Amino acid sequence: MNKTVYYIIGDGIGPEVFAAARPVIDAAVSKAYGDSRKFEWKELLAGEKAYKHTGNYLPQETLDTLATAELAMKGPLGTPVGGGIRSLNVTMRQVLDLYACIRPIKYFQGIESPVKRPDLVDMIVFRENTEDVYAGIEWASGTPEAKRLIEFLRSMGKNVDETAGVGIKPMTPAGSKRLVKKAIEHAVAQKKSSVTLVHKGNIMKFTEGAFRAWGYELAAEEFSAQVMTEQEAKDGGTKPVILKDRIADAMFQEVLIRPEQYSVIATTNLNGDYLSDALAAQVGGLGLAPGVNMSAKLAFYEATHGTAPTIAGMDKANPGSLVLCGAMMCEHLGWHEAAQSIHKAMDAVISAKTVTVDLAGQIPGSTTVGCKAFGELLQKNL
Ligand code: NAI
Repeated sequence: MNKTVYYIIGDGIGPEVFAAARPVIDAAVSKAYGDSRKFEWKELLAGEKAYKHTGNYLPQETLDTLATAELAMKGPLGTPVGGGIRSLNVTMRQVLDLYACIRPIKYFQGIESPVKRPDLVDMIVFRENTEDVYAGIEWASGTPEAKRLIEFLRSMGKNVDETAGVGIKPMTPAGSKRLVKKAIEHAVAQKKSSVTLVHKGNIMKFTEGAFRAWGYELAAEEFSAQVMTEQEAKDGGTKPVILKDRIADAMFQEVLIRPEQYSVIATTNLNGDYLSDALAAQVGGLGLAPGVNMSAKLAFYEATHGTAPTIAGMDKANPGSLVLCGAMMCEHLGWHEAAQSIHKAMDAVISAKTVTVDLAGQIPGSTTVGCKAFGELLQKNL
C-alpha cells in the first residue's frame, strides 16, 4: 500500500511550508495504519531550484515523470521575471492536460468570517480548467485581427461595433463531460448527496447552456444507477446522488443563504474561478485552502497561495494549505482515517488559537507561532 508522491518544493516560502507539512502528513498516515501504508516522496525539480541545478525552470525530465505519475504535490512557484518565460503553473496545466481544478471549502472554528454561519459551508468545487474564455482567444480593440473577425461576424448577420475588443468562448461536449464525470465520481465515492451544475445558460445558450445539457447527458449515460434529477427525487426516487443545476448568479445567492443544500459543484472555467474564491472568502479567506489539478491519470496537489516573497525564509508562513492537500490526497486514496486525523488536528490547533501570523490577524486573542512550530502542533494533535 505504499504510494509514490512526486513533489516540487516550490519557491519563496515553498521549502519551509513543505518542511513543516510533510511530517504532519506522514505522521497522520503512520498513526492510522502503522507501517502498512506509507507515502514515498520523490523530488522533481521546477522553479528556482531547477534553474540553479539545470539552467531550466521547468526541466523536460520533470514533465516526463509527471506525465506517468499518479500523485504529485507542489509548493508555490514564482513566475520568473524577465521576458519570454511563461507561468510554470499554466505550462504544467496545459502540457499535462490537468483539466479539473478541484477546491474543497470548509470552515475551521474560530476563524473570523463575514457571514453568520460559515460552519454550514462544506462544498467542493470542480472547475473546468482548459476551455471557456480562458482558452486565450481574444484580440484587442482596433487590431487588424479584431477588425477581420468583426467583418466575418457581420457577414454572419451579427452586428458588432467596429471598435470592439473581441474574445471567443469555446466549450466542447468532451471537455464539459469529463469534468462533470470527475465531480459525479467524487460524489459517489465520497458518499456526497448532490452535484450541482453551475452555468449561465440563460444567456449563453450554446456554451454555458450546453454545459448543463451535457452534464445531464453524461449522468444519464454513465451514472443512471447512482444519480437522479431533482424532479426524480421529488417523485420519490431513492438514488444516492441528486443532480441539480443552478444559474451562476442565483448560485452566488444560494451559497450565502442556503449553503447546507450544496455539496459538490461542477462548473465552467470562469464561473468556477469566481465561485471558488467567493466561497473561500465566506469561510474566512484563502490562506488555508488546498487544491488539486487533475488529468485522467494524475492528481497534482498544490498550495493555492503564492510564494509570499516578503516573508520567505522567516519561519512565518502558514503550512496549512499543503497540510490540507495531504488530507485531500489521503481521501482520494480512500485513506479516510488519516484524512480525518489531519482535519481534527487542524480544528484543534486553530481552536486553541495558536496559529501563524496570517491567521492570527483573523483570530482575536490568538498566540502567534512560526511555521515549524505550527507544523509540530498539528503533529501533536493528530
Ligand atoms: P501570495 O499568495 O504569494 O501572497 C499574498 C499575500 O498573502 C502576501 O501578503 C503573503 O505574505 C501572504 N501569504 C501567502 N501565502 C501565505 C502563507 N502560506 N502564510 C502566510 N502568509 C501567506 O501572492 P502574490 O504576492 O500575488 O504572488 C507572489 C508570487 O507567487 C508571484 O510570483 C506569483 O506568480 C506566485 N504565485 C504562485 C501560485 C502558485 O504557484 N500556485 C499562486 C499564486 C501566486
